[in-house]
Amino acid sequence: MAKILVTGGAGYIGSHTCIELLAADHEVIVLDNLCNSSEEALLRVQDIATKVMTFVQGDIRDSAALDRLFQTYAIDAVIHFAGLKAVGESQKFPQLYFDNNIAGSLSLFNAMEKAGVFKLVFSSSATVYDEANVSPLNETMPTGTPSNNYGYTKLMVEQILQKLQQADERWSIALLRYFNPVGAHKSSRIGEDPQGIPNNLMPYLTQVAVGRREKLSIFGNDYDTADGTGVRDYIHVVDLANAHLCALNNRLNQTGCRVWNIGTGKGSSVLELKNTFEQVNGIEIPFEFSPRREGDVATSFADNTRALSELGWKPQYSLKDMLADSWNWQKQNPTGFN
Ligand code: NAD
Ligand code: UD1
Repeated sequence: MAKILVTGGAGYIGSHTCIELLAADHEVIVLDNLCNSSEEALLRVQDIATKVMTFVQGDIRDSAALDRLFQTYAIDAVIHFAGLKAVGESQKFPQLYFDNNIAGSLSLFNAMEKAGVFKLVFSSSATVYDEANVSPLNETMPTGTPSNNYGYTKLMVEQILQKLQQADERWSIALLRYFNPVGAHKSSRIGEDPQGIPNNLMPYLTQVAVGRREKLSIFGNDYDTADGTGVRDYIHVVDLANAHLCALNNRLNQTGCRVWNIGTGKGSSVLELKNTFEQVNGIEIPFEFSPRREGDVATSFADNTRALSELGWKPQYSLKDMLADSWNWQKQNPTGFN
């Protein structure tokens, strides 16, 4: 089994991925500066997996710390989650996002090269697709100019990695374009725990359900969709975590730089999601319609054929599972990891 460095492993998607890595008998070393997560998540991951992992508290922009880490542990591959992800914040503080997500990634890739580690799985996003593409989005469609600085950092890092690989074929890189991760581990012990007011639909909705927020604002009901509200491809975080394992296995045996969409291939509207949440969990969600949010598209869902056929990956969880698991996590941890 392999020794895997997981940057950002204490975060939402990283922590769920660590569980799957441990279950597959990989040795896991987490590097995280805890700027948007808590060490408690890592303790719970080890509890759930009944296995231990190594935690190094540090920053991907700290080259000396990275060199020490690679000298100490004979890393075989890296799964790179570390980064900032708040779209609104990225508009206010572009430099912070360029530094953390782009310079931070470059610092990691430099350290990997120095240490002779060339296997990488990178967290990208469906936000890199050109808005003019019509869903289902497939990997051969053009990327665009993302409407926000966060999306721009994802596109930049994808392009940097493609160029690195073209220049040196020792690199073997998976670019995973996530659609909309939601849900939580079945144990309800780990889940999404955003700081401050959530930007994303699901954590906002569960915070309304638990009484931390008054009502859900549905951004726009005049889109060209069946019920007028935005359509997205929600994917269970455990399915997403498993996609990382499949991508890792694929990369351990191959070279190249390959993009894979990680979504279910099915779009759901905001209203459908809210109504199904109410039905599955027996809770009413107060809501109002409000104006469209800047930068939002009407519809975005994946063509996931490539991931299914090349990675041997298949999402297992339904929208109902996602909504039940998100709620169970929030209900049992009303204030997250605090
Ligand atoms: P998260 O904020 O929960 O996890 C990110 C982790 O990285 C956190 O634990 C944070 O403390 C850590 N981190 C941030 N900057 C760091 C740095 N400079 N050095 C070390 N650690 C650092 O976010 P997440 O939802 O788990 O997302 C993981 C990755 O997936 C991110 O790169 C994100 O942009 C990407 N992504 C997320 C979504 C989503 O909807 N959640 C969608 C597409 C892509
Ligand atoms: C957003 C980001 C995207 C990022 C992703 C993951 C924007 C424009 N896009 O994607 O760049 O990769 O998060 O972090 O911010 N909605 C409501 N009310 C809310 C919140 C959301 O109605 O309180 C709607 C949105 O209009 C959208 C859907 O719910 O139709 C999903 O929104 P969200 O969860 O924020 O994800 P994305 O917009 O797809």
